[in-house]
Amino acid sequence: MELRLDGKVAIVTGAGGGFGVAYSRALAEAGACVVLSDIDLDAATQAAKNLEDEGFECMAVATDVGDEQSAATMAATAVERFGGIDILVNNAALMSEIPFGQPLGEIPIDFWEKVMRINLTGSLICIQAVLPAMKQRGSGKIINQTSGGAFGPAGVYGVSKLGLVSLTVSMARELAPSKINVNAIAPGFVSTDAGKRSTGEELAQALPQMVPLKGFGETDDVVGALLYLASSASDWVTGQTLNVDGGWVMRI
Ligand SMILES: NC(=O)c1ccc[n+]([C@@H]2O[C@H](COP(=O)([O-])OP(=O)(O)OC[C@H]3O[C@@H](n4cnc5c(N)ncnc54)[C@H](O)[C@@H]3O)[C@@H](O)[C@H]2O)c1
Repeated sequence: MELRLDGKVAIVTGAGGGFGVAYSRALAEAGACVVLSDIDLDAATQAAKNLEDEGFECMAVATDVGDEQSAATMAATAVERFGGIDILVNNAALMSEIPFGQPLGEIPIDFWEKVMRINLTGSLICIQAVLPAMKQRGSGKIINQTSGGAFGPAGVYGVSKLGLVSLTVSMARELAPSKINVNAIAPGFVSTDAGKRSTGEELAQALPQMVPLKGFGETDDVVGALLYLASSASDWVTGQTLNVDGGWVMRI
């Protein structure tokens, strides 16, 4: 059982955002070479530079996860620079960009499709992009960042994130013969800038009553789950969604 990732190559999408920065750092500190991918190249470049300055092996790449060509370039860049791909963290998503409480009865279909494209289809696109490299390695770890919002009424965001839970299960079954594990993390309310923006003042006030362990969590409360699912410690675990949320969502 080993939580180290020495010699492994990881891609993190949405790596310039709150979770992406924390996940990239955790993977780098565990020994992985990290490709920080984001549609916001400046943010990914800054995050990569901070890690490089500390001596970690990483690089930034501009990627729109909703675009197949762009995801293919992301995978090719990782292989070219680091020689392969072992870990994919599908973290990029629209969240704070979605108006709080937006009624599905009135949501513009263009916007619905945009959210689905990035939050759900984008993860499939990235999985397809890295599969040849993972199969060549003979193993892999795919971690989909879903949300506790998947398990309750959370509008288009919740629908997209529940779709990701289902994608996790189907792909876990499909890729098991290739020794590729596919799991998901469902964080609760986490105090990234985007997390605070999408929660809003009123709900933030109610969190201590809703969440048994504590209201807002920090990204550091979630990185342990990431390292577990990215490492050999979880080799016999696939198709699972791990709720990391202070006990907000309790599933049987
Ligand atoms: N913060 C929370 O409370 C919370 C809770 C549960 C789940 N999550 C999930 O965690 C992930 C990260 O959340 P965060 O709080 O860091 O948000 P964030 O907005 O800081 O990060 C999202 C990142 O994704 C990038 N992105 C957006 N569209 C993209 C695209 N088309 N291609 C590539 N990159 C794109 C953004 O540029 C941004 O850097 C998301 O999947 C979110 O749904 C967050």
